[in-house]
Amino acid sequence: MAFGGVQVARTLLCVNISHAAKLREELGGDVPGPVEAAAICTQTGCKSIAVRLSQDRRYIRDSDLFAIRDAMPINGNFCAEMAADDEMIAFAKRLKPDRITIVPGKKEEMTPNGGLDVRQSLARTKDVVELFRDEGIPVSLFIEPDREAVDLAKGCGAEFVEICTGAYSKAADKAGIDREIDRIYRAAEHAADVRIKINAGCGLNYVNVLPLLDARELLELNIGRAILSKSASAGLSKAVQEMMEVLD
Ligand code: PXP
Repeated sequence: MAFGGVQVARTLLCVNISHAAKLREELGGDVPGPVEAAAICTQTGCKSIAVRLSQDRRYIRDSDLFAIRDAMPINGNFCAEMAADDEMIAFAKRLKPDRITIVPGKKEEMTPNGGLDVRQSLARTKDVVELFRDEGIPVSLFIEPDREAVDLAKGCGAEFVEICTGAYSKAADKAGIDREIDRIYRAAEHAADVRIKINAGCGLNYVNVLPLLDARELLELNIGRAILSKSASAGLSKAVQEMMEVLD
């Protein structure tokens, strides 16, 4: 972004297209699918795409993931979100995404309910981070916005953290919202202090994202459901128009 000729860094968008796979399965057929969604996002200029790899393959198919990876632009960033279980690790080594985000592992969850308990899985998480580092794949840990979790992630050798904004997005009143924003700002400042890159996501939308833009340490915001829901209304007029043209 340029202000008076001076380049100012801005927060980048990572579109989480996991729910495009859910929509495809719910509606039946192949369109809209996550591969098409990824292509539209990158053609629109968003270079970062995230997809949740799920153990049960209920929505996203292995073939989707390889197709998305192969179609990413040269300077693109394909982030695979996954639980750190053996099956997912073996799969991710074959997939070779540009980045991996470790999320809490629950088979049925498309969107995690909260961040990892890094303390409880410290040794395992360290091993997984190291394993992917040896594969040349940087790891991000999806954590709650607190200092201890940031320190533990740094201690595990993770290159990034993604702080969970789920509690912020669900906060019901001003006091709760302010408290959660404060937690996010503090975690972001602490991440910058200890030199670990920081992203954020979960439950963000076109309105609640605004206060986060003041946290300059946040490099990237990972947003899925709000964008996919918006596309249903924003794209409806074009879809109706196209069908009317077919009927003409
Ligand atoms: N970050 C992570 C780690 C996720 O798993 C998800 C959902 O898959 C998101 C961000 C995006 O959440 P939302 O769809 O609520 O924007």
